[in-house]
Amino acid sequence: MTMDKQLVWVRDPTEGFVLARLHELMGEEADVFPVDNRHPRRVCNFDDIFPAGDPSKDVDDNCELMFLNEATLLNNILTRYKKSKIYTFVANILLAVNPYEDIPDMYSSTTIKKYQGRSLGELPPHVFAVADKSFRDMKALKQSQSIIVSGESGAGKTESTKYILKYLCDLWAKGAGPVEQKILDANPILEAFGNAKTTRNNNSSRFGKFMEVHFSNKYQVVGGHISHYLLEKSRICTQSAEERNYHVFYLLCAGAPQELRSALKITKPDDYLYLKNGCTQYFTSTQSEKKINASQKSKQQQAKAGLRDPILDDVEDFQRLHQALSRVGLSEAEKKSVYSVVAAVLHLGNVEFEEEGGARGGCRVSPESETALATAASLLGVDPGELRMALVSRLMQSSRGGIKGTAIMVPLKTYEASSARDALAKAVYSRLFDYIVRRINDSIPSSASAYYIGVLDIAGFEYFQMNSFEQFCINYCNEKLQQFFNERILKNEQELYRREGLNVPEIRFVDNQDCIDLIESKNHGIFHILDEESKLPKPDYGHFTNAVHKELSGNVASARLQVPRASRLKAHRTLRDHEGFLLRHFAGAVCYNTNQFIEKNNDALHASLEFLVQESNSGLVQQLFETVDNNNAKGKLNFISVGAKFQTQLSQLMDKLKENGTNFVRCIKPNSRMVGREIEGSLVLTQLQCSGTIAVLALMEHGFPSRAPFAELHNMYKAYLPAKLQTLTPKVFCQAIVHSFGLSDKDYKFGVTRVFFRPGKYSEFDTIMKSDPENLKAIVDSVLAWLVKSRWRRSIFSALSVIKLKNKILYRRQCLVTVQKAVRGYLVRRQHQPRYRGITKIKSLENNLKEMEAVIPQLKKEKENAKKNIENLRNSIRGACTTIKTNPKISRTDIDKLYTKLTKDVESQMAALQKAMMDQKNREEQERLRRIEAEMRAAEEAKQKEQERIKQEEEHRRLKAEMEARRKAEEAERLKLEEQDRIAAMKLQQQMEQAAKADQENRERLEQERRDHEMAVRLAKETNGHVEGSPPQLRSFPSMESMNGENKLNRSERVRMQQAMQGKQKHDLSKWKYSELRDTINTSCDIELLEACRHEFHRRLKVYHAWKAKNARKSTMAEQERAPQSIMDAAKTPRLPQKGDILGARHRYFRIPFVRPGGGAGGEGERRGWWYAHFDGQYVARQMELHPDKTPVLLQAGVDDMQMCELSLEETGLTRKRGAEILEHEFEREWTRHNGPSYVPPHSRMR
Ligand SMILES: Nc1ncnc2c1ncn2[C@@H]1O[C@H](COP(=O)(O)OP(=O)(O)OP(=O)(O)O)[C@@H](O)[C@H]1O
Ligand SMILES: [Mg+2]
Repeated sequence: MTMDKQLVWVRDPTEGFVLARLHELMGEEADVFPVDNRHPRRVCNFDDIFPAGDPSKDVDDNCELMFLNEATLLNNILTRYKKSKIYTFVANILLAVNPYEDIPDMYSSTTIKKYQGRSLGELPPHVFAVADKSFRDMKALKQSQSIIVSGESGAGKTESTKYILKYLCDLWAKGAGPVEQKILDANPILEAFGNAKTTRNNNSSRFGKFMEVHFSNKYQVVGGHISHYLLEKSRICTQSAEERNYHVFYLLCAGAPQELRSALKITKPDDYLYLKNGCTQYFTSTQSEKKINASQKSKQQQAKAGLRDPILDDVEDFQRLHQALSRVGLSEAEKKSVYSVVAAVLHLGNVEFEEEGGARGGCRVSPESETALATAASLLGVDPGELRMALVSRLMQSSRGGIKGTAIMVPLKTYEASSARDALAKAVYSRLFDYIVRRINDSIPSSASAYYIGVLDIAGFEYFQMNSFEQFCINYCNEKLQQFFNERILKNEQELYRREGLNVPEIRFVDNQDCIDLIESKNHGIFHILDEESKLPKPDYGHFTNAVHKELSGNVASARLQVPRASRLKAHRTLRDHEGFLLRHFAGAVCYNTNQFIEKNNDALHASLEFLVQESNSGLVQQLFETVDNNNAKGKLNFISVGAKFQTQLSQLMDKLKENGTNFVRCIKPNSRMVGREIEGSLVLTQLQCSGTIAVLALMEHGFPSRAPFAELHNMYKAYLPAKLQTLTPKVFCQAIVHSFGLSDKDYKFGVTRVFFRPGKYSEFDTIMKSDPENLKAIVDSVLAWLVKSRWRRSIFSALSVIKLKNKILYRRQCLVTVQKAVRGYLVRRQHQPRYRGITKIKSLENNLKEMEAVIPQLKKEKENAKKNIENLRNSIRGACTTIKTNPKISRTDIDKLYTKLTKDVESQMAALQKAMMDQKNREEQERLRRIEAEMRAAEEAKQKEQERIKQEEEHRRLKAEMEARRKAEEAERLKLEEQDRIAAMKLQQQMEQAAKADQENRERLEQERRDHEMAVRLAKETNGHVEGSPPQLRSFPSMESMNGENKLNRSERVRMQQAMQGKQKHDLSKWKYSELRDTINTSCDIELLEACRHEFHRRLKVYHAWKAKNARKSTMAEQERAPQSIMDAAKTPRLPQKGDILGARHRYFRIPFVRPGGGAGGEGERRGWWYAHFDGQYVARQMELHPDKTPVLLQAGVDDMQMCELSLEETGLTRKRGAEILEHEFEREWTRHNGPSYVPPHSRMR
């Protein structure tokens, strides 16, 4: 696909980026033609291609760039640099490129004045703008401020720091007098002792510092303070060939007056071991060169002449140092002591050792070095012998053999003695540096301080081919600063969004905390592992390195920590795993060689040297060592390592930075040749990456990185537009254009002072603006239309706003009424609600009363009383309601009291009712139980009765069976007797035939008697009298004959019976009257007589009835029959009189059916009834006739004899009648049912 030759930036290894035109897009790459012919055509990955915008245009703030990317950023910096504009902003971060030359008027007093009080962005970017912003922030926010100046060596940090201090002191230290000077003087002193020539910078600061300028309440400079970090000690003893030791050594050699040099025995750099391996040239100017005599010059100096640097001059600088030291309060003697210590370090360095060759294997000071030893000893104020001793041997305390704790001197080997010497030199020099800083701080007052502005000048991220402990510390420091930078910059950016009223969500950034943890973590960080290694009896860097890999490579940080083999650099890959580690910092991977880590981490002197210097004659030397922590005294296990000290210092610094407001200055080194007007794109790009500026750009992309103040946009584009649009105010102008372009709302935002664009959108806007005139005409039309629309909308909006306002007022009025209503309601409710509630509550008690009333009907007692009580309660309730109703001011408490009282009354009444109900229930329950008991008893009795009945029935059955048996026996007996009778009859036949004749003779006489008797009876009837006398004794024969004339046997038997009976009779009763017989029966106790009387009585009765029956046939009085016909018929058969009780039963009872003839004989009127008879002995005692529709006839012997059966039991034949005999109770039941009187036997009637 061929493109329209769009301008782009493509990545280039030397230039950083080169301008090119897109030729063709191919998958993930593109074919590009660089604009500059010197660069070849190439194919690049899209990641390495960035849109270019207008490459010739530069902006003060990189965020104003049309395209925001690393290429446009680099181009902007380079373009400006070429125009000597060394400063730019990325948001609030100042980027400062080292010009390596003086730019006219750049830092003059007029410029300082120009920047005073001006907001950031008002004037072109400048380090003064940052200084001024800090001052204004301090004043406005009443908060101390920090300016963090960072960058790699030679980038211009120290220079920038100096300009900031100058700016602050120039403007606000007037009248502070010496304070200002002292602050400014601190730099030459610190630089003399702490700076050195390196390959990267002639005046390289080999320490970090935080310089505070203190201000009073009135924001005047009143003091200052310097904190310093990590002086590079290794430089004191060795430097690379191109580099020098600290400036002060050369200042002494080149600039010190002759006398001083002689006193200190200072000659030329070549003469000193600590200088001669490095660069031995002085920094000179043509004038100062002349001031140095040949004896002071090294061979190099003589050969190549002096080094040139705009700000360095060893001869002049000594003077400056000397004066500055005086101004910070050092006396001449003190200064001399300081120089002496410096010189002593040089001489000490010249002390060399050789093997002693003895059995002890020690070493001695080589004879050539004796002078140096003596000079060093004298300059340090110690005894040369002791110094020698301390250098070649080591004091140790024995732990075995001899007396424990005895100090013994252990001889040292040559290399060990050299190390001891170097350690002493480093210790002396570093402590001297601390002393100098202390003296400067002491000279500047800081008591009246209210706020301060601190400037941090500390080395930026460092990486060399071989990196050691120093780089490790400085890169750790930079990781911390980077983390701080991320937090602060993003915060500021977001603050701007807030200030401008942009509603941008929070932007997050990549955290490097894991890398920091890897280094400083308390129990397993690299520093910790290093300290632990130092505490071992024989610390070994290999062991330490392995421990680092082992402990840290396995965890999440493994991506951060690797073995040297993993490096992309070939030089690193030669290192073995135990010789180093690769740490991926935010700026890139750095390979550390751990060879010197343990030694560099432990700056303690061994004891003999420590004691030696502490005992020095020189006051200064003593002072240097007295205040410092005596690591030796603490012992190996408790020593404080360099790393640990640095961590503490850094954490204190971070605390300060976090408390303060912060500003960032990122210094950039333009080229490695350290010359002006030359810029290496790739070098700058790397620094931008390392300083985190590129990362900030990336972060900016999430927000609105492109921004332009309204006025600027107006100026830029007004030329393209017609005059009528040019007159618009900048803001309306911008709004009109942006809106009429139809950009999406997401792509831009209007702030208070500027318009913000999403990445790339600004360029879209620009392209449209600059397109052909036709298009522009359309744009103008669109803008005009938008303006009309917007004005129309605005007027509509205004009208609507007024309406809205009116509605709002109405609404609020309505709301007000509602509020009033609510409040009034509330107040009234508050007053009366308790009354309403009280009444409701009290009325609700009536329900309880109703419940009680419902219960009352169930009560059996005291109903009325309860009703009355309830009525009383009801009245009380009504009374209470009336009280509340009539008294509007009644209080809630009174209502509650009323309610409580009523509730109590109701409850007590309720309780009383419940109790009454309960009692009643208990009573009923008891009654019920009692009833159940009675029922059970009754059931028991019924059961017993039933059992008795069954028993009785059993008894009756038994008796009936007995009766049947008796009847059968009697029947058998009767048959037997009949047989006997028949035989006897046959025998008597003859006798009877004989007697018949005699009978015939009497017949007439008997007939006569019968007629007489009939007449008597007829007369008795007519006269209501009774017949006296009885029919003749022998009258029975004719009657029997008449009844059954043909039965001869019966007749003969009857004769016989009569004769037998007569033979037996003791008493002759034939002459007794009927009444006499009746009385005897009723009163006599003579059984025999009684029985005889009964016989006689019944005989006569029989006769009477026979007579009566004979006559009755003629009458119709059939109902007067005394016994059923069957009995009467049975009686016609003659029977032998019973001899006593046949089977022992005196009382016998019988029942047979009895049909008393009705109107017609055998007719329908005949009703079936029962005839009952009770025989007491042979004769009937009671007799009963029962017919269904007739009154029962109950007859008793002795009362109703005339109507009763006159036959003897035997004669009736009842005993032989099957089923006729019944039990006594059966008879008695019927008898009593028909109200028959109870039976009294004849013999007991009198009693
Ligand atoms: N603003 C400036 N104008 C002119 N020259 C400058 C400026 N800044 C720096 N230089 C030159 O660059 C040199 C190095 O600057 P400086 O010492 O400040 O670097 P640095 O960042 O402190 O390096 P180091 O980390 O090594 O201390 C200075 O000696 C000076 O010659
Ligand atoms: Mg510096």
